[in-house]
Amino acid sequence: MTDTPKAYDAIILGAGAAGLMCALTAGARGRRVLLLDHAPEAGKKILISGGGRCNFTNLESRADRFLSGNPHFAKSALKRYSQHDFIALVDKHRIAYHEKKLGQLFCDGSARAIVAMLLAECAAGDVDLRLGHKITSVSKSDQFYIDTNHGKFRAPSLVLATGGPSIPKMGASGFAYDIARQFGLPVIAPRPALVPLTFAAEDLAFMTPLSGVSIDSIARADGAMFRENILFTHRGLSGPAILQISSYWQPGETIHLDLLPDLDAADYLLDRKHTRAKAELKTVLGEVLPQRFAQSFANAPAVIGQMQDKALRVIAERLKRWAITPAGTEGYAKAEVTIGGIDTTALSSKTMAARDVPGLYAIGEAVDVTGWLGGYNFQWAWSSGYAAGEAI
Ligand code: FDA
Repeated sequence: MTDTPKAYDAIILGAGAAGLMCALTAGARGRRVLLLDHAPEAGKKILISGGGRCNFTNLESRADRFLSGNPHFAKSALKRYSQHDFIALVDKHRIAYHEKKLGQLFCDGSARAIVAMLLAECAAGDVDLRLGHKITSVSKSDQFYIDTNHGKFRAPSLVLATGGPSIPKMGASGFAYDIARQFGLPVIAPRPALVPLTFAAEDLAFMTPLSGVSIDSIARADGAMFRENILFTHRGLSGPAILQISSYWQPGETIHLDLLPDLDAADYLLDRKHTRAKAELKTVLGEVLPQRFAQSFANAPAVIGQMQDKALRVIAERLKRWAITPAGTEGYAKAEVTIGGIDTTALSSKTMAARDVPGLYAIGEAVDVTGWLGGYNFQWAWSSGYAAGEAI
């Protein structure tokens, strides 16, 4: 180990999705790039993403599918490196993929192909990738100086690409926020997003026995709405519709679920009251909802022909506008992403450079830009990584 720091044009902290894209872009421009990570392997979240098949982008990627303190911030980067640019890279490497639903593109095979592609592009640009490096200090004088347990490095440009604290057991950390604060950049309070919601005992008494049941629903929270499945779990609710609204939900707020999005539930029940007068309520509900749910929901035996219209309307309203207040979320341990992060007001939307700290950049999940579920978060990593990779 030498005390003289090794010199580069740019140092990127974090060899995840954004850091790899930034490194390969700068490497292709002939920049001398060091890519540092404390993990023993690059792109670990890519490897586990999309159930191991990596939902690497979304055909519908555009700025209104991202949450940020500045809803316009992502526009420039998404435009200059779009989903089509990433698809072209995937095609160049002959990685087979398919659209699963809602514009979501997944590998036909393993997510490992995406990491291999990014590493091959980094190697082509002579990126110096160093894994298993614990970063012990970051400082700036004439340039940035990085101390690690395996030596010292320096460069005029430093890119923060260490992501957010979601899934700490994989080595995720709030490191980018600490370094941002060290250089005076504001950080919007982070919280878990794309995360299952938990409920108090009273609601759980209904939900827990239904664990494993999923229902095509519309979930609403804070003005946002998503139509996809909800899934009952032992701790509350999950499934894509719930994960999506978890990003919009604020503690204490009520969420609303429409469990029969294609049906006027009151019309349906009142019609069945006459056409199937002798049927039990649970049987009638079981025609349009999963049996297990219908049985639990109907609770006591009741013959629909003997029920009052008013009671049927109340049931219909509960199915169409089920209002429930989550107790919380399953936290960073289960959150796919972190909402909040380095405040975009401190960054250039063109280059991701810090406005007041020459040479400092922030990209990917560390920044206060959070995508919907469905490949949007990787697209932000690619787009912001490219923007900085072109500038450093
Ligand atoms: P990312 O987390 O990828 O990389 C950060 C890197 O920094 C890591 O390599 C880490 O080891 C390193 N690091 C952290 N702290 C450090 C420190 N102190 N010192 C040195 N290095 C440090 N998105 C999507 O679009 N489609 C999908 O299919 C999925 N699926 C999915 C599944 C699961 C289970 C999770 C948890 C997340 C997803 N995501 C997703 C979200 C996606 O993984 C996420 O948005 C991107 O990985 C963010 O890319 P970044 O490069 O910003 O961070």
